[in-house]
Amino acid sequence: MTDARLPLDAAKGLERGPAVTLTLDGRAVTAYEGESVAAVLLAEGEIATRVTAGGSPRGVFCGMGVCWDCLVVVDGIPNTRACVTWVREGMTVQRQDGWRAREEDA
Ligand code: FES
Repeated sequence: MTDARLPLDAAKGLERGPAVTLTLDGRAVTAYEGESVAAVLLAEGEIATRVTAGGSPRGVFCGMGVCWDCLVVVDGIPNTRACVTWVREGMTVQRQDGWRAREEDA
């Protein structure tokens, strides 16, 4: 898998936080503290974060938590915005299929 992250360059201030491992759609992925889930998906070449109930792919649009197009399932919690969710060690991320009701909303 090609890593789409910028190459590090301390002279230009391009640094990364410590590496963490998360699970993305069942496979282990290396990410870095300070990255959003959306950044990791894009770095892994995964453009679509979810598909709508009608089957249309959606991904990062606004990148700042406004449009809700980047929904994923994080640690079993659906409708989580990938662009405003920061990675952490052991996190489980799944791309979402349609809108899912949360248990507390049922
Ligand atoms: S990309 Fe718009 S809310 Fe995440």
